[in-house]
Amino acid sequence: MSCQLGPIRLANPVMTASGTSGYTFELSEFVDLDRLGAFVTKSITLEPRMGNPPQRTYETAGGMLNSIGLANVGLEKFCEEKIPLLERMTIPVFVNVAGKTIDEYVAVAQRVAGFSCIAGLELNVSCPNVSQGGITFGIDPQGLKELVAAVRTACPKSFLIVKLTPNVTDITATAKAAIEGGANTLSLVNTFLGMAIDIETRRPILGNRTGGLSGPAIKPMAVYMVNKVYQEAAQPAGVPIIGMGGICSGEDAIEFILAGATAVAVGTETLVQPSCLTNIIEGIRQYLIDHHIAAVKELVGTVEK
Ligand SMILES: Cc1cc2nc3c(=O)[nH]c(=O)nc-3n(C[C@H](O)[C@H](O)[C@H](O)COP(=O)(O)O)c2cc1C
Repeated sequence: MSCQLGPIRLANPVMTASGTSGYTFELSEFVDLDRLGAFVTKSITLEPRMGNPPQRTYETAGGMLNSIGLANVGLEKFCEEKIPLLERMTIPVFVNVAGKTIDEYVAVAQRVAGFSCIAGLELNVSCPNVSQGGITFGIDPQGLKELVAAVRTACPKSFLIVKLTPNVTDITATAKAAIEGGANTLSLVNTFLGMAIDIETRRPILGNRTGGLSGPAIKPMAVYMVNKVYQEAAQPAGVPIIGMGGICSGEDAIEFILAGATAVAVGTETLVQPSCLTNIIEGIRQYLIDHHIAAVKELVGTVEK
């Protein structure tokens, strides 16, 4: 069941997705976190953020919209209150980093990378870049490459995951840019932009007007993007992929692995049923037994061409 993200060994390929499992042990009442492959924190920014006005989540057919807006306690409080708890985790921990400027990403990344209990950083590049007039970092290959390279230079020894947004015409271009900037692993996908309208009031349901769609509704699009990035960017460069988007079962996880993911992350389904994380691990194990496959890594990217 083990897998390698570069030098980092995971006991199994199942991780939490950022923003859906809190900062540390919030889910421990419902799931034995020690059994997971790795833990990913919610996004941390330099300053504390209140996030967007309510309503911030809305259930849709086969999924949900969220417009949380990166609400978080900010870097100082995270280091003071959450890092001491993360030190107790027995599985690799990745801190998800977000910001509005390259300097903000670098400041958070540098500080967090200094803690020995942190296995690596995941850059959430789906944030508007204030210094470039609000264009999301992750949709502009050149801007993305500069961002990743700046963090790479500031944290030369850190394991760097770059989390790609699906809201682009060609995800291969941003995947290649992240690799050229110095990413060690790519994670995909973040949420798809969406909107829901209350037909009685004729108002958008989310306080922020738009939000990000996640859950089973996005799975086929996410599998497609993982396979495309695997074939055209990640495999040629020897860079592993963490696949996510609507995973609810071991079978769903296997689909992502066949498409090219070395590991998988689970977000929305964790909100429905936190114990799904360990069920997914068992589902993958059962598939390997049923199909007489010795190791999950043998399956990566083996969908027929
Ligand atoms: C409520 C909610 C909050 C999220 N917050 C973050 C976040 O803070 N940072 C981030 O990189 N992704 C965030 N995401 C995106 C997820 O990590 C994941 O990429 C996406 O939801 C697709 O996976 P899923 O369909 O399994 O949820 C959030 C998703 C949800 C549903």
